Amino acid sequence: MSKTNAPLKIGLIGAGGIVRGAHLNPGWTAVPNAEIVAVADISLKTAEALAKDFKIPNAYEDFNKLLEHDEIDAVDICTPNRVHTPAVLAALAAGKHVMCEKPLAVTTEEVKQMAAAAEKSGKILMTAQHQRFSAISTAIKRWVDAGNLGDVYHTRVHAVRRNLLPISVGFIVKELSGGGPCMDIGVHALDLAMHMMGHPRPTRVTGTSKVNFAKGDVIPGAWGEWDREKFSVEDFAAGFVHFENGATMVLEASWLQHQKEVEDMSSRMYGTKGSVTWPSGEFSTAINRVNLDGVIQPVQGLRPAHTEEIFAFARAITEGLSSPVPVSQTLSVIGILEGLMQSSVEGREVTLSL
Ligand SMILES: NC(=O)c1ccc[n+]([C@@H]2O[C@H](COP(=O)([O-])OP(=O)(O)OC[C@H]3O[C@@H](n4cnc5c(N)ncnc54)[C@H](O)[C@@H]3O)[C@@H](O)[C@H]2O)c1
Repeated sequence: MSKTNAPLKIGLIGAGGIVRGAHLNPGWTAVPNAEIVAVADISLKTAEALAKDFKIPNAYEDFNKLLEHDEIDAVDICTPNRVHTPAVLAALAAGKHVMCEKPLAVTTEEVKQMAAAAEKSGKILMTAQHQRFSAISTAIKRWVDAGNLGDVYHTRVHAVRRNLLPISVGFIVKELSGGGPCMDIGVHALDLAMHMMGHPRPTRVTGTSKVNFAKGDVIPGAWGEWDREKFSVEDFAAGFVHFENGATMVLEASWLQHQKEVEDMSSRMYGTKGSVTWPSGEFSTAINRVNLDGVIQPVQGLRPAHTEEIFAFARAITEGLSSPVPVSQTLSVIGILEGLMQSSVEGREVTLSL
């Protein structure tokens, strides 16, 4: 791929909460050479409202119309999870670079289809895992890559909330979301932990997934009422993962449960030389039989994580770089979540062949 200084023409597919809240503000609007040419949303009203607010010249109901714009270089896909695969495949077939919100897909079969399509098109396919781009994640990743942990033998991953259940059907109806908190927030913490660990190959997983509170009235939702009839995903899941290099991981994800913290989105990696906790940056080690604790400071001067993520995508296109979040890494993440769910259904450990 070669370097280009031409303006980047962008199309947005899906015009809901994350586009408005994070991808445009500052997001794409901060990228100097980017121009948003069109937006598509299955609700034309929603597409037109975004177009009006952000002065986007074209709004469509059908994303295929947007993809007919030859001048569009890249699309940013922010539809509900189950619409990611058709939108990504259509965009790659139309010769566009693609950034797609997490989870890229909800099955490994679909991730593999996307990988093949990206390979065939020669275009960039990036999963929008914005947590990798935050100031603290960047600082911790540098510290880990400098060898401060030694060999990581275990990681603890939490994506657990007290009562933050997203009420939109796109999150709680399985046909649209493909899963509950695992696919919504577990995927963030898991992707980041894998990124920090250097993406060891997962080999086996065991897990459980349950609906403990979402069908009842015990825990009030801080984001309002959800449709309890339509709710068809888990509200809690936990898993245990083995990696090829001997490391292990324990993972918990939930939207509703009795706990003091409104949200505990964190991970801790244990290595032979030290441990580190994300996102606090706290680390612990021992030198010459003396315990030592400290705190890693966030990298200064970075933009918000979503904006850094968008800059990384834009830079990869204009400078001819490879995908900042490659689909091969996403395959492992989705493989773990898929295996966890399969293990829960079948009541046994699942061997992964990723
Ligand atoms: N990275 C993050 O922090 C983060 C946060 C929230 C959501 N997300 C992800 O972003 C995606 C969207 O979430 P959201 O919160 O914006 O949801 P949302 O429900 O607010 O918006 C989704 C939009 O997609 C539109 N849509 C549905 N089907 C479509 C289709 N076939 N073609 C075009 N548009 C279609 C809907 O009409 C809606 O406007 C999800 O995959 C979610 O997991 C990521």
